[in-house]
Amino acid sequence: MSFLGKWLFICCVVNVYTQDAPRKPNIVVIMADDMGSYDMSFGGMNQFYTPNIDAMAAHGTIMNHHYTPNLCTPSRAAFLTGKDPMNTGMQHFVIPNEEPWGLSLKETLMPQLFQANGYKTHLVGKWHLGFFQKDHTPLNRGFDTHFGYYGGYISYFTHSCDCFEAQSCTLGVDFRSGFETNLTVNGKYATDLFTNEAIRRIEEHDTKDGLFLLISHLAAHTGSETDPLEAPPEIIEKFNYIKDENRRKYAAMVFQLDQGIGQVFSSLEKKGILDNTIVLFYSDNGAPTQGMFSNTGSNYPLKGIKETPWEGGIRGNAIVWSKQIRKPGNVMDQVMSVTDWFPTLLKAANIDHQINNLDGINLWDRIVDNNKVNFGRRIVHVLDAEFGYSSIREDNWKYINGSRYDGLYDHWVGSIGNETDGYTDYTAVVKYSKTGMALSKYNTITKHSLNTIRSQMKIQCPDRVGTPCNAFEKPCLFDIDADPCEKNNLADIYPTVMSYFEGLVAYEHWKAVPAARVHFGDPLSNPALHNNTWTWWVGNNSI
Ligand SMILES: *[C@@H]1O[C@H](CO)[C@@H](O)[C@H](O)[C@H]1NC(C)=O
Ligand SMILES: *[C@@H]1O[C@H](CO)[C@@H](O)[C@H](O)[C@H]1NC(C)=O
Ligand SMILES: *[C@@H]1O[C@H](CO)[C@@H](O)[C@H](O)[C@H]1NC(C)=O
Ligand SMILES: *[C@@H]1O[C@H](CO)[C@@H](O)[C@H](O)[C@H]1NC(C)=O
Repeated sequence: MSFLGKWLFICCVVNVYTQDAPRKPNIVVIMADDMGSYDMSFGGMNQFYTPNIDAMAAHGTIMNHHYTPNLCTPSRAAFLTGKDPMNTGMQHFVIPNEEPWGLSLKETLMPQLFQANGYKTHLVGKWHLGFFQKDHTPLNRGFDTHFGYYGGYISYFTHSCDCFEAQSCTLGVDFRSGFETNLTVNGKYATDLFTNEAIRRIEEHDTKDGLFLLISHLAAHTGSETDPLEAPPEIIEKFNYIKDENRRKYAAMVFQLDQGIGQVFSSLEKKGILDNTIVLFYSDNGAPTQGMFSNTGSNYPLKGIKETPWEGGIRGNAIVWSKQIRKPGNVMDQVMSVTDWFPTLLKAANIDHQINNLDGINLWDRIVDNNKVNFGRRIVHVLDAEFGYSSIREDNWKYINGSRYDGLYDHWVGSIGNETDGYTDYTAVVKYSKTGMALSKYNTITKHSLNTIRSQMKIQCPDRVGTPCNAFEKPCLFDIDADPCEKNNLADIYPTVMSYFEGLVAYEHWKAVPAARVHFGDPLSNPALHNNTWTWWVGNNSI
């Protein structure tokens, strides 16, 4: 080897080596529950602000076509397995506390892979993938620690919940530190408890290990059955200018969630690990604007709500922040599925895996480097043989057959509230939020950059409905790129596209794993039998 050759070898191989062997990037995922697709102020809402989320958006990449299943359990299963719900048996409904079923133990979950690759894995908050057997609970599914609850929701202060069929059980506390029920935190606001636990995990983290932290918030889901929208009174007070009392409380719940995100960023910065951390934020599904668990969250101008096949139930925003992102504040139009995070986050952490039947695809390079052409894809949003409805997107087409709640929410509910407090300087609150401050060394937020994001986020829809759709009468078809608000049913104009989708639905049903749900409220689950707590009640080898 010549001298130059040797020199090149030493310099560059060594250099490549140091560049290619980064510390394990930390992964922090912050998941909101039932938060409206357009209840984040970077999307244009002025009624109240989400400054920390907005600062994260302005410094990160915004996935403006981020699809999730339309309900908690299927959505969380899809995130943690990288597979669509009908491929894991999670396509039908959510897990009521009293029903003995859960996500199949055959599935490998994202935290298991991180755990096996030198990461400490923490779940803070909600689980909702089954607890009837101890084997199904988070500490047996890849998490080193858990602080939070097993079921779908709890009351924000008393941390208790009843059954789906409320008359058949007593209230039970559903709140744990590890496997132990935690009653000492009774009376403390759940959102703050989760934020504080997340901060503690960051502060106590040994940086020799990777950190995988999933903060799965209760907000903005409803809490107590008798007082569904709960927030500390002094926070609700801040939003006195909002006339609708429920919306005022919702604003307070979201505000506290947003503050918590800011505290997490501050704590990552203080610990000195922000540079090497990837932070993801999204909501598990669209808001239940009205009806069951209604929280007044808004998906407007999108059609429908949580648990409907319409865009309002399934299309949200996800935001990623990483130092590696080349174009801060970019609004990415590439269609994304929540299943994509499994291969994407593993890729970002350079973790190889042998799971080959994923529905998600790795989009890490695209998220980091936004200058790429979007590609069309198929996403099965809903495929529920029992409720008898389906919704599939392929390329620009979206096919819908049937709906939920007899079509009660098959229209445009909610609105962008136009009340403001009249004095807040939007740019300043975002820029000087805790997240804005923690990220200020990377990039500067300006009025212009925020306005650019808001204008790119705007969804343009015609005021009037073209050809209407009654998905119970016959299946409907939308050109979802041109008509994101689902106002013009094209089914009669494109019969060949319709027959293509009918074949596709039949095929997906044929290949689906049977739904895991058992329609059985087990009386043995009753908290009255377990010292007024929710706990596993079936021995480990029975199912
Ligand atoms: C309950 O959680 C709090 C807050 O993390 C903690 O200080 C306390 O030790 C926990 N109690 C039990 C019984 O685990
Ligand atoms: C639409 O859904 C209904 C109810 O599940 C079903 O009976 C019907 O066969 C479906 N129609 C088509 C064209 O797939
Ligand atoms: C706000 O919206 C309400 C209801 O849509 C409307 O009646 C009112 O005029 C609007 N106010 C302003 C200041 O635009
Ligand atoms: C039942 O719960 C109470 C607190 O509500 C606690 O003091 C007691 O130790 C619990 N009993 C058992 C057997 O776990």
